[in-house]
Amino acid sequence: MFDSGVGGLTVLDALRAQLPDAPVIYAADLAGLPYGEKSEAQIAARVSGLLGRMTERLKPRLVCIACNTASTIALASVREVLEVPIVGTVPAIKPAAAMTQTGTIGLLGTAATVRQTYVDQLETEFAQGKRLLRHGAGELVAAAEAKLRGAPVDQAVIERAVNGLRSQPGGEEIDTVVLACTHFPLLIEELGQVFGPGVRFIDGAQGIARRIASLTRGQSFARAHADSALFTGSDGDSALMPALRLRGLESVARF
Ligand code: DGL
Repeated sequence: MFDSGVGGLTVLDALRAQLPDAPVIYAADLAGLPYGEKSEAQIAARVSGLLGRMTERLKPRLVCIACNTASTIALASVREVLEVPIVGTVPAIKPAAAMTQTGTIGLLGTAATVRQTYVDQLETEFAQGKRLLRHGAGELVAAAEAKLRGAPVDQAVIERAVNGLRSQPGGEEIDTVVLACTHFPLLIEELGQVFGPGVRFIDGAQGIARRIASLTRGQSFARAHADSALFTGSDGDSALMPALRLRGLESVARF
């Protein structure tokens, strides 16, 4: 399971609930974080290069790109070169369109995700007749990383993210918010408090877990040792260990 940082742990949580016996290696490109501020070319090169090397070395039976930014930019090119099944993360616009009562959906992602034509295509395909307001809230990525290491969340960051949607024409009508970055569900309580009780959130984690369960149906799993994490640029981060252990990731190595 691959992300730029700790965001993919929200997908891991959903996967654990579906497939508790599946051994997982959680890989985070901390040396490349944040992806949302990088160019398309930089992200595509990093993700293809790293996943190519990791897959060769670790031989997983399936790769999950638990990152909207990496998936919306690099999923197609990674699928070209890797031979294992790859499950990507797609902004949950389709279920959001089915949920909204007001017809106005907000989408919070990284700056790189919200500008992707992939998102335009999802909007055209699944949100016809709805209004989709997008906001690149990259600051939330650092806030989620800090929260998971036990630091307090800066309320001003949450307010700026919410305001980025609410201040757009029609923003007051938003009743459904797509969390189109895997880091953002880590801040769902804080976001919920500022958006208020009339807003519901949706993200892709459950759908990804169901997809992985369906692709591995009938396969047997045996965990020979405790699951672990791999980080680029770091072989340990003691502040993060409690959050990793909580998810069954008992050790960290550097990749
Ligand atoms: N977790 C990533 C996503 O879903 C992005 C975080 C980053 O900017 O690196 O888009």
